[in-house]
Parts: sequence; C-alpha cells; structure tokens
Amino acid sequence: MSNDGVNAGRRRFLVAATSVVGAAGAVGAAVPFVGSWFPSARAKAAGAPVKVNISKIEPGQQMVAEWRGQPVFILRRTEEALANLGKLTDAVADPNSEASDQPTYVDPQVRSIKPELLIVVGLCTHLGCAPSFRPEVAAADLGADWLGGYFCPCHGSKYDMAGRVYKGQPAPLNLPVPPHSYETDSVVVIGVDQENA
Ligand code: FES
Repeated sequence: MSNDGVNAGRRRFLVAATSVVGAAGAVGAAVPFVGSWFPSARAKAAGAPVKVNISKIEPGQQMVAEWRGQPVFILRRTEEALANLGKLTDAVADPNSEASDQPTYVDPQVRSIKPELLIVVGLCTHLGCAPSFRPEVAAADLGADWLGGYFCPCHGSKYDMAGRVYKGQPAPLNLPVPPHSYETDSVVVIGVDQENA
C-alpha cells in the first residue's frame, strides 16, 4: 500500500512536470506571434502609427521621424520662437490654419498640442520637396526680418516656426499637422489621434 502511495505521488509529480513543459512550450510558440504585433516596414508605409521618443530634443532643435513613408518634423520651440509667432499673423497666408490640414485638437495658431512641440509633415505644400530647417533669426540669405522657420529649396517657399506659409509663396498652405497623441511626456505616437479630441 505504501508503494502505491509513492507511485501515486510520482505520477502526480510527472503530471505536474508535463504541465509545466506544456506551458513553457505554449509560451515559446507565442513568441513569433508577439513579434508580429510590431508593425512591419510595409505596415508602416501603409499607415501604422509610429512611436517616437522625444526626450532628447533640446529647445531650438528638431528631429525627423518617418510616418507613412513621409518625413515628420518634430521641433521643440524656444520661448522666443513661440513669442515670435504672434508677430507673424499678418505675414502668413493662413494664420489660424482654417484652410490647412490639421486636427481639431491642435491649437490653431501655434499648431500643436503642447505649445513647445511642433509636429508637422515635412513636405512642402507646393510640389512636395522637403523644406530645410532654418531656425537662425535674420539669416543672411533669408532677410533681416526672418524669425526662423522652414525654407523650401525647390522654389523658395518660406514657413514660420509653426509651419505656416508666408504670403506670396509658391506653396499655398501650411505644412500639414498629422494626427498624433502623447503616450507620456517623452513619447509621442504619430498616426493616432489624441483621445477626447
Ligand atoms: S516644392 Fe517647395 S516651393 Fe515648390
């Protein structure tokens, strides 16, 4: 009888051990599946959201991300650059972005969710060249009244530090603001609208 007890105990142990192996096997099988949750290059080109860590962008600097195969400029504006935007209302073609492409939850003048962080698609609204980032005030080639912004090298369109096109340029509209939201203070998700918009 005592042997039966030992054998029964061993059987229970074997059953338990097999269950653990089975569970480990299931986890192993799930790994490739988890991998498929991350967007492939093709999915990104088709429009999958892109997460960007913005914590390293210093005031006055920008980084370029990629979303749907397009460059996206992410600029951390200085206090001075933000203050200058108010001086340009009469100089830009669409100061409140009424005709331009931007989500409703973005401030119409500074064109961002957080005042300091501008996020725009980096393609000129004329014929789609990539504008250059030109933050230097009164740059010699852009004139004494230049307050910093973007300059398109193809046909000379000028945009301010909110991506608003100046009047009288070949480009008709402001740089588009893509849908975006903040996951944390350091991570922005491009391609996903802010909740409660
Ligand atoms: S493409 Fe930018 S000005 Fe023509």
